[in-house]
Amino acid sequence: MDSSKKASKDLEQDVASGRRGFLGKSAMLGLAGATLALAGCKEEDGAKAAGGASASAKAGSGHEIAPGQLDAYYAFISAGHGGEARVIGLPSGRTLKRIPVFNVDCMVGWGITNESKAIMGTKADGSLKYMTGDTHHVHGSYKDGTYDSRWLFVNDKIHSRLARIRMDTMECDKILELPNVMGFHGLFPDKCDPVDAKINYTTRVFCGAEFHIPLPNDGHDLNDPSKWGALFSCVNAATMEVMWQCRVDGNMDLVATSYDGKLAASNQYNTENAADLTGMMAAERDACVFFDIARIEALVKAGKFTTIGTSKVPVVDGRKAANGDPARAVTCYVPVGKNPHGVNASPDGKYFVCSGKLSPTATVIDLALVAKWFKGELKTERDAVVAEPEIGLGPLHTAFDGKGNAYTSLFLDSQCVKWNVDAAIAQFKGDKNAKVIIEKIDVHYQPGHNYASMGETREADGRYLNSGNKFSKDRFLPVGPLHPETEQLIDISGASMHLVADHTAYSEPHDGIIVRRDVVKTRQIYNMDDFPNAVKPDNAGITRQGNKVHVRMMSQAPNYSLPEIKVKKGDEVTITLTNHDKVEDLTHGCAIPTYNINFIVNPQETKSVTFKADHAGAYWIYCTHFCHALHLEMRSRLLVEA
Ligand code: CUA
Ligand code: CA
Repeated sequence: MDSSKKASKDLEQDVASGRRGFLGKSAMLGLAGATLALAGCKEEDGAKAAGGASASAKAGSGHEIAPGQLDAYYAFISAGHGGEARVIGLPSGRTLKRIPVFNVDCMVGWGITNESKAIMGTKADGSLKYMTGDTHHVHGSYKDGTYDSRWLFVNDKIHSRLARIRMDTMECDKILELPNVMGFHGLFPDKCDPVDAKINYTTRVFCGAEFHIPLPNDGHDLNDPSKWGALFSCVNAATMEVMWQCRVDGNMDLVATSYDGKLAASNQYNTENAADLTGMMAAERDACVFFDIARIEALVKAGKFTTIGTSKVPVVDGRKAANGDPARAVTCYVPVGKNPHGVNASPDGKYFVCSGKLSPTATVIDLALVAKWFKGELKTERDAVVAEPEIGLGPLHTAFDGKGNAYTSLFLDSQCVKWNVDAAIAQFKGDKNAKVIIEKIDVHYQPGHNYASMGETREADGRYLNSGNKFSKDRFLPVGPLHPETEQLIDISGASMHLVADHTAYSEPHDGIIVRRDVVKTRQIYNMDDFPNAVKPDNAGITRQGNKVHVRMMSQAPNYSLPEIKVKKGDEVTITLTNHDKVEDLTHGCAIPTYNINFIVNPQETKSVTFKADHAGAYWIYCTHFCHALHLEMRSRLLVEA
């Protein structure tokens, strides 16, 4: 046997046998040592798993995007502690764009230009307030139960910030820091106004907070975590201001919203209000807390709220002690499986599904029954649960195909399980013949979020499912100690699931959405008049006020309008640059050596930078973005006189 044949034979055997078992065991140890006994899951379900080497070899056909062909879908995904959002095409997996949000990006100039720094937030000295961010969830704005291509919203878990991305330019335009919140994790836009059904589009964004903190977090109660609290926040989507907050018992995690706008909910893994791991795993059940939006807003309107510290945001009390009467309560705590992670809304608008993580179950909550509880007509909160099937080990997030099936990621099993919601409800009612689990497919490895094409809308089309996996291990060529992660695309359109492709993901992929390409409307050229500081021939040039110099410059390939800029050492220099090119994709760059400046200006766009000219000498300002045959010659001279 020649060596290449032997190698491929070895690889086949590897895939077929040993490694999955090893990985499963190591993951189990990794997650848990501490997680105590996970209730058993039937071995036979796992053994029937589809996928693996042979299935992935067969699949793939019909999903290739040939050179020059366009993808059918956009995927908008979060980038974890890279702090950005990303756009990829599906099914090809081609990277289309990286959208800097909470991170500094020297290609675009994000965190370098005055405009981006104003959005990101600065300290008194003009430097950035934060250089770090941790994006987990990206969700689009809605109209009539589906995406309206206005905005994407994305969270920063580190500094509790919510960012908005304009979908026409796919650039961040607002960032807001939530007051008195730490560990802002889940977010979800509303889909309708809770009172006025005519407002059938997103006007609010709800934000869940994972970590308890002293309220206010000013140094008091440091040694008594039992007094700390967590707030659910509601942000006005248009103005990006916090409208109100609601204090809960326990913590929050991910967020889901109902299609009728009346309810929002967050899964709670720390109902124990504990400050350590053992404490957070003490209760047999945790909860999914529901918020009655109209009632909260009525309390705010009636002045029945408090404020915390220096924040002026109204805070409504959603703790159980203040909400004893369901008919007037603003919150409803529905018990679900232990330490749940994830809450997802079914596209038919009827159910929210919470997965157990430390329980091998998914809990199906009927929204009509939650509404009944809020009317005082349901005996207990738990009576809103209509199904709780055992689906596998370490269930996290659930996606939907619009045909009544749910797809839940199984972190410990390294699988995705397809199960039927109606069958689960029938089983819960006592039907012993109900076939809940339809199929399991291996993913590689340890999946976190999964999401289906249009799956978070009424237009869920059941075409593709993306599994965002936390470990790729042996799936790609090694690149040093840190392997890439995998985004695995699964075809869910047929009777059985097929693995279509392994796409690499730079650390660390979290949640995302898959949007039909016809839904997304972008613009390629800015409107120059959208920029109040646009430089035009009549205001171009250099002006000085004391030691402040303002350089107003234009770019048009292959020229900057000023061949030379003369300033004195110690001057504060602002350069405003407007790109007068109107041709699609004709972008220019502007780099200044020694002064740590680089940014781009897209067609008809204006950006500015401000810096202190503290080094005498000649500095070539040059174009960094390939624009013209004379791109290298596109330069200007910054002359700083001693
Ligand atoms: Cu302008 Cu390169
Ligand atoms: Ca718990």
